[in-house]
Amino acid sequence: MLMASHFTSSSQVWFLFLAIALGVKLSECANITIINYCKETVWPGITPKNNFSGDGFELKQGQSAVFTAPTGWSGRIWGRTGCDFDKNNNGTCQTGRCGTGLKCNEPGQPPASIAEFTLGETDFYDVSLVDGFNLPIVVKPVNGKGNCSSAGCDSDLRPNCPSELALKLNNKTIACRSACNVFDTDEYCCRGAYSSPVSCLPTNYSRIFKTACPVAYSFAFDDPTSVITCSSTDYVVSFCSSRVKLRTIDLCGKSPGLAHSGNLLHRTILFGVKSACAHLDYFTSTKFG
Ligand SMILES: *[C@@H]1O[C@H](CO)[C@@H](O)[C@H](O)[C@H]1NC(C)=O
Ligand SMILES: *[C@@H]1O[C@H](CO)[C@@H](O)[C@H](O)[C@H]1NC(C)=O
Ligand SMILES: *[C@@H]1O[C@H](CO)[C@@H](O)[C@H](O)[C@H]1NC(C)=O
Ligand SMILES: *[C@@H]1O[C@H](CO)[C@@H](O)[C@H](O)[C@H]1NC(C)=O
Ligand SMILES: *[C@@H]1O[C@H](CO)[C@@H](O)[C@H](O)[C@H]1NC(C)=O
Ligand SMILES: *[C@@H]1O[C@H](CO)[C@@H](O)[C@H](O)[C@H]1NC(C)=O
Repeated sequence: MLMASHFTSSSQVWFLFLAIALGVKLSECANITIINYCKETVWPGITPKNNFSGDGFELKQGQSAVFTAPTGWSGRIWGRTGCDFDKNNNGTCQTGRCGTGLKCNEPGQPPASIAEFTLGETDFYDVSLVDGFNLPIVVKPVNGKGNCSSAGCDSDLRPNCPSELALKLNNKTIACRSACNVFDTDEYCCRGAYSSPVSCLPTNYSRIFKTACPVAYSFAFDDPTSVITCSSTDYVVSFCSSRVKLRTIDLCGKSPGLAHSGNLLHRTILFGVKSACAHLDYFTSTKFG
């Protein structure tokens, strides 16, 4: 598949460039672009905190969609796999299901690797493997202020999942469950005598998750450095992004540019101009197809 790349018209570019240079965000809400780089179709699920009437849609390989999170939004985004929905968008998924709809109407079911957001003047975000792992997921802020490092990881834990945690279908590991989910003990679930950060320590199972994915929560009281902060930013949430090669071109001394990485099929994605002397990240599509 060919990835088109072009620049927006100069007035748009200039306006956006000014807005970014002045640290002005175009609006209060945050656009969260969700991209599926996996070979397989992924059905993202989105649920607000404490309210499971959420969103959901299908993303084939290489497709993306924008979820516009309202001001102050708090919630979770993850990928559902192996879904089968009928023409009324009713059906079920092999992992990550959230009710029987394409749009979530119940809490997400483990195992799933989950991106968590609390948006505000300062946004907090993390990737949690507390409910297991079903897909590599990375949260990357775009043009934000503050720490703004990426959360999550590209590693696929499924091939190295201990057999007692593996969720298998036709002999293939489709997800790696958490020890809490499998053994349901106070120690693994940080309950009872283990309900504080002092008493609930890493276990041999949570260490497997932490080693494979250091910037993600591996158990309920994991080291809080897994939570990252950023302000005035949009986000890209990507599944299986190790399948594409991220290249950086240096635009210093050239006119400020904003890349519109043409999505392979649908929408356009705005990638980061990090500073006035910009490095422009763009994806090549060499691994697709
Ligand atoms: C968010 O996306 C919508 C539509 O995809 C667009 O109209 C809007 O300008 C975007 N907002 C920001 C802040 O980028
Ligand atoms: C849940 O969210 C939906 C859509 O945002 C809203 O219409 C509904 O009132 C909310 N329900 C509760 C119980 O907060
Ligand atoms: C939707 O599908 C589920 C199983 O996937 C089924 O139990 C349920 O009855 C269906 N609901 C409707 C309204 O068709
Ligand atoms: C599943 O894999 C095991 C070990 O690799 C093998 O012994 C078994 O025959 C396989 N079962 C099926 C149904 O393929
Ligand atoms: C983890 O520890 C438990 C109990 O201490 C042990 O039974 C299990 O084999 C260990 N698993 C791994 C993958 O090390
Ligand atoms: C940003 O956060 C990450 C993850 O918590 C941390 O490793 C890094 O040191 C932080 N960087 C700065 C500049 O604070």
